[in-house]
Amino acid sequence: MQEANRMKRLPLYLFTIIDKLKLEEQRKGKKIIDLGMGNPDQPTAPHIVNELARQARRAENHRYSRPMDCSEIELRKAIAKWYHKRFQVTLEPETETLPLIGSKEGIAHLSLAFLNNEDVALVPSPAYPVHFNGVIMAGGILHNIPLSEKKGYLPDLGKIPADIIRRTKLIFLSYPHNPTTAVANIEFFKDVVRWAKGKNIIVGHDNAYSDIVFDGYRAPSILEVRGAKEACIEFHTCSKSYNMAGWRIGFAVGNRNILKSLAKTKSYIDFGLFKPIQYAAIKALTGPQDCVKKMVEVYKKRRDVLLSGLEKVGWDIPKPKATFYVWARIPNKYSALTSMEFAAFLIREAGVVVAPGTGFGEYGEGYVRFALVENEKALREAIKRIKHVLEMET
Ligand SMILES: Cc1ncc(COP(=O)(O)O)c(C=O)c1O
Repeated sequence: MQEANRMKRLPLYLFTIIDKLKLEEQRKGKKIIDLGMGNPDQPTAPHIVNELARQARRAENHRYSRPMDCSEIELRKAIAKWYHKRFQVTLEPETETLPLIGSKEGIAHLSLAFLNNEDVALVPSPAYPVHFNGVIMAGGILHNIPLSEKKGYLPDLGKIPADIIRRTKLIFLSYPHNPTTAVANIEFFKDVVRWAKGKNIIVGHDNAYSDIVFDGYRAPSILEVRGAKEACIEFHTCSKSYNMAGWRIGFAVGNRNILKSLAKTKSYIDFGLFKPIQYAAIKALTGPQDCVKKMVEVYKKRRDVLLSGLEKVGWDIPKPKATFYVWARIPNKYSALTSMEFAAFLIREAGVVVAPGTGFGEYGEGYVRFALVENEKALREAIKRIKHVLEMET
């Protein structure tokens, strides 16, 4: 059986390789510290879990979810309310919000909704993989915009050739940025909106980490920019803000026509979200937000433990202002290795899993990403093991 060509064009999914290496070491009896995947380890807050349980007992919630069902109407209102409170942006619940089965689903389907075979999608590199894999699966033409540490991992939109721009239908952006942890200020988003104007390009901004911010930094929404709704939609997720990763719920907001096409695409594929999950998300978005604060505090402590520990063993890494990742240049001693080789080396020699930079695209080469999804004790143990690796004779 031959897979479709579009499937063959997809790069190998990085965690398949990493998981295999991890399993090999576990089979040898090694205790692995897994800082690879951005899979939140903290529990969902009890008031959200309780709402799920309560709603799951109601038989009327067991049916397919339809867009005009009470749960979805209420969820859209809750999204708009949260959005206004969080970013002071007003959204019309019915037309300017769209619940998603996780933001990853919506991001992939945005490409499917808009890209013809001759259409270009601009995707910064490195990026969260569905930004580029969604384009490939939809059969569009992927054009990478290289991001560099020197430029703060912000794309230079002025450098994109005019013939590419002419064929471009879609651009993905995402700040706070996974994997590099870079942040953007509102001036950057103003420039993006100005740049997109008149070009007939859809801007899909993935704001998955808007709540995971440190040291007084506030992550803006692109929709705060006047006129942004003409061309932009923004993706959010409950996975990170409310530790609801396995629940699969996110949402898109912004331009009503883009959302309408995205909803149409989805309507041929899915039946929306399990209603009890929708009710639980309403609780999350409209209920007490101290669980978010507590979660951010936990990540901040972990960030500081990891960075100060690694600094002490000679691995100096810039301090992220947002996300629960740490993006680290491969230490000089091992800079002859590719990021995949270095990640494999860390698994084998230290039992520490990190994500190789190239898992996020070719411009991730030279770096690895730590996800702060293990507790402080495990992070201290990881530092001890990495110290040993850094001191090894080569
Ligand atoms: C930038 C970014 N966007 C989207 C997602 C996916 O989120 P969801 O769980 O809502 O699909 C992730 C998950 O790691 C992410 O890092």
